[in-house]
Amino acid sequence: MRTQVCIIGGGPSGLLLSQLLHRKGIDTIVLERKTKDYVLGRIRAGILETGFVDLMREAGVAERLDKECYVHDGTVISYGDEQFGISFKDLIDKTVVVYGQTEVTRDLYEAREAMDGQIVYNVESVTIHGADSDAPYVTYAVDGTEQRIECDFVAGCDGFHGVSRQTIPLSVRKEYEKIYPFGWLGILSETPPVHDELIYASSDRGFALCSMRNENLSRYYIQCALSDSPDDWTDAAFWEELKRRIPSEMAEKLVTGPSIEKSIAPLRSFVTEPMRWGRLFLCGDAAHIVPPTGAKGLNTAASDIHYLYHGMVQHYLDGDSEGLDRYSEKALARVWKAERFSWWMTSLLHRYPEQSPFDLKMQRAEIDFLCSNHAAQVAMAENYVGLPY
Ligand code: APR
Ligand code: PHB
Repeated sequence: MRTQVCIIGGGPSGLLLSQLLHRKGIDTIVLERKTKDYVLGRIRAGILETGFVDLMREAGVAERLDKECYVHDGTVISYGDEQFGISFKDLIDKTVVVYGQTEVTRDLYEAREAMDGQIVYNVESVTIHGADSDAPYVTYAVDGTEQRIECDFVAGCDGFHGVSRQTIPLSVRKEYEKIYPFGWLGILSETPPVHDELIYASSDRGFALCSMRNENLSRYYIQCALSDSPDDWTDAAFWEELKRRIPSEMAEKLVTGPSIEKSIAPLRSFVTEPMRWGRLFLCGDAAHIVPPTGAKGLNTAASDIHYLYHGMVQHYLDGDSEGLDRYSEKALARVWKAERFSWWMTSLLHRYPEQSPFDLKMQRAEIDFLCSNHAAQVAMAENYVGLPY
């Protein structure tokens, strides 16, 4: 088999890149190690920057998103019983969109299948060969049969645990990592959201987040110990703890119900440099991870895809390799700003085991400054809605 771009990974990054390239007549094959249903079963965040929405529109897959999404003008920050709103709309005339990543992935799968996109599921032993040569190829097995794809380029969209990043020699790769000393215990419940916008809550007992998917599907998180497991938390215990971390007026309004999903996610900041090696390009979680506090995971994958898509189009349609040559530099410039914002939001709102009384005072002063200073709120709004591509 031969294709122009072999895409490893059928998550949001790989599917969006495949769909965008297809619409420009650039041939791709997506190799996914799981089944479509497995991929769609993953519970992920749901805040989209307008840059992501624009990409989905350019890919021709935004019809349902535009119809069913919720536009949020701002968010609420709370500290114990105190709270204040940050209106992105009033501050910078921009907004964000609430639309589950699962729905994004579903829309992309439907579009690829409608266009007879080549997606191979249940692949095993994917190996990238000759990435630093002019004739790369990818081997893999499916149903026990070894296959080989000759290609011009390989897009590594296979997430943090994929093979693409590992293909780049350690002598070339430099990795940066920060592991946070806590996790997020999240639940999904078929209950109405406690508020019409998100609530990022800081409290003496730790962080909490009140989010949503639609008017009868809520997503809540509480900071928890890394040693916790979901089975340690009954629904009743979760709801009780959440109520203690959000302002009492919100706790009184909170509608509780049985969890339909309960899981714990660790928090990590991670970046690998460079994001290109020869004809291999890393995108999304394959290259970087952010703590979910700033809702930047999917949105930073989107900017990678934006840069790579335009680089590929420039190469194939204009015969100009400038976009591809500058891909890593341009993608990383925005990745590091997203890493900074995610780290800042996490540091602002969480309780850390070794915090001294002075550290707590600094955290409180930072929140007070955000509450009272226009420039601080504009800076947060610019980062939250998404910095320019
Ligand atoms: N071969 C083929 N496919 C693979 C391999 C492999 N060796 N390893 C991983 N995959 C697949 C996974 O099964 C997954 O479907 O690659 C896909 C990677 O998808 P994601 O992990 O969702 O990463 P990405 O597409 O970059 O999306 C980033 O997803 O994890 C969230 O927070 C993250 O919101 C962000 C978004
Ligand atoms: C979510 O809805 O899952 C969500 C929203 C905002 C975040 C993180 C997660 O910052």
